[in-house]
Amino acid sequence: MEYNINGLRVFTKGNKNNNTIIFVHGFPYDHTMWNNQIEELKENYYCVTYDIRGLGESYIGDGQYTMEAFVWDLFSIMDGLHIENPVLCGLSMGGYISLRAVEKEQNRFSGLILCDTRSEADNNEGKLVRSNAIDKINVEGVEAFANDFVPKCFHNKTPERMSEMYEKILEITKSQNSIGVKGSLIAMLSRRDTTPSLKNIKIPTLILVGKKDTLTPPKIMIAMADKIKKSKFDIVPKAGHMSPLENPEFVNNKIRRFLEKNFD
Ligand code: MLT
Repeated sequence: MEYNINGLRVFTKGNKNNNTIIFVHGFPYDHTMWNNQIEELKENYYCVTYDIRGLGESYIGDGQYTMEAFVWDLFSIMDGLHIENPVLCGLSMGGYISLRAVEKEQNRFSGLILCDTRSEADNNEGKLVRSNAIDKINVEGVEAFANDFVPKCFHNKTPERMSEMYEKILEITKSQNSIGVKGSLIAMLSRRDTTPSLKNIKIPTLILVGKKDTLTPPKIMIAMADKIKKSKFDIVPKAGHMSPLENPEFVNNKIRRFLEKNFD
């Protein structure tokens, strides 16, 4: 089913009576990055995904986004679809949204899956990288930014090993709206650090990171896993920063086992 909730495009698969998983995509992609996981899980779970505002098919508005607004959007989807206690699964920027949502209202969620993300806010260097990216989009456009950024998200062998998927992702990125992409960069640049609240996370948490993730490397995610009591950590082989796309079999297997152990 497809919905429009406050301008956000929402996509669901599976039976609403089953346990719910909400998938939140990374920057600057869209809901389709979770297709492999949803195809695998839809028989047994109610799978919900959406396009973050400014990206994919969701509304763009004026690009004045914050991480807080991204979290309000998530809560508005949960309210709109009457979803209670879902498992929240976010990759990278989707992980920032998930961590902040759990920091604010942990009791609304039953579990957490964090892929290739971090709890720390941007440091000074990170802020400069975002500023340069905004400048590049202003001067050269989204296509030029995509050509620079997308290769950094993948294991260096993935473009050749999975060329069809890689080209599709590159196309999706190039066709994103420049206002939406810049708005997401500003929201990430200004987000708060959720590290101090990791110790308060009590819900079962699965943490996955691509072995060759250079944007959110394994050592950062190991440190995060150490701070979350009920967490299970795994490294995804043959993957960079986009582990659910680069090694879907491995990631699906880990997610399925985590769900069966904790929620069935
Ligand atoms: C993402 O995959 O969402 C981005 O790499 C996040 C970021 O740039 O911090």
